Amino acid sequence: MPIPERLNPPFAPAGATTVDRLGEARKRLIIALDVPDAASAAALVDRLEDTCQWFKVGLELFVAAGPAVLEPLLKRGHSVFLDLKFNDIPNTVAGAVRSAAALGARMMTVHASGGPAMLAAARTALEGLADPPQLLAVTVLTSMDAAQVDAVGLKRSPAEQVELLAQMGMEAGIRGFVCSPQEVASLRKITGPAGVLVIPGIRPAGATVGDQKRVATPAQALRLGASYLVVGRPITQATDPAEAADAILREMAGALEG
Ligand code: C5P
Repeated sequence: MPIPERLNPPFAPAGATTVDRLGEARKRLIIALDVPDAASAAALVDRLEDTCQWFKVGLELFVAAGPAVLEPLLKRGHSVFLDLKFNDIPNTVAGAVRSAAALGARMMTVHASGGPAMLAAARTALEGLADPPQLLAVTVLTSMDAAQVDAVGLKRSPAEQVELLAQMGMEAGIRGFVCSPQEVASLRKITGPAGVLVIPGIRPAGATVGDQKRVATPAQALRLGASYLVVGRPITQATDPAEAADAILREMAGALEG
């Protein structure tokens, strides 16, 4: 499968066939490999190999298995989203972003709440690279509802806080954001079609929500303007992960018809 990069327009071209739309959906689905070790990750990737292009390596797997966990994924031609959500002083984050790019990650995250100087440092750190990865600023975690946002002293609603952080990120030159499905439409207005919006908190109808709070179905998130969907447990904890991924891809392909 070719490595898809910077998929901005949220919809397939008019007249696309079902096969085209499934291919398009496949480029936009990112599977979160939230597992405790490299062996579990390898077992999941084996089962999802033919279904998915993108895999997300997050804190649980990276802390346990280290940078070497990216190698087999890259060797098999997969695209890796390294989701370590950096949040530190600008100099430290710039260095971390450079290190993540050197590992071959094609997407990576920093926390927007690190502020404009940190975001600008992260962006600048990637500027000299011939083929820089997509930098994403995480707005408000999809696990946070109004009560959680209030508890950390923010006197805005989650939606207002997401918008504020996105505006600030745009001013710092960031063009990629992570937000919940509930804010994707307003962020799409802020970024325009060139923005890369990566959306977790995806739950197919009837799926267990778990710790996520601001959720939507795959079709809803795409129709609202998502560029990519991040799905973890609904696929990785399914009895048949490939079948679960396939059902999500078919739902996404249906939504791409619009
Ligand atoms: O299992 P589930 O589908 O809830 O996984 C969602 C993934 O997206 C997790 O890996 C989580 O770390 C990540 N994520 C999120 N909310 C954000 C940013 C990333 O849930 N705002």
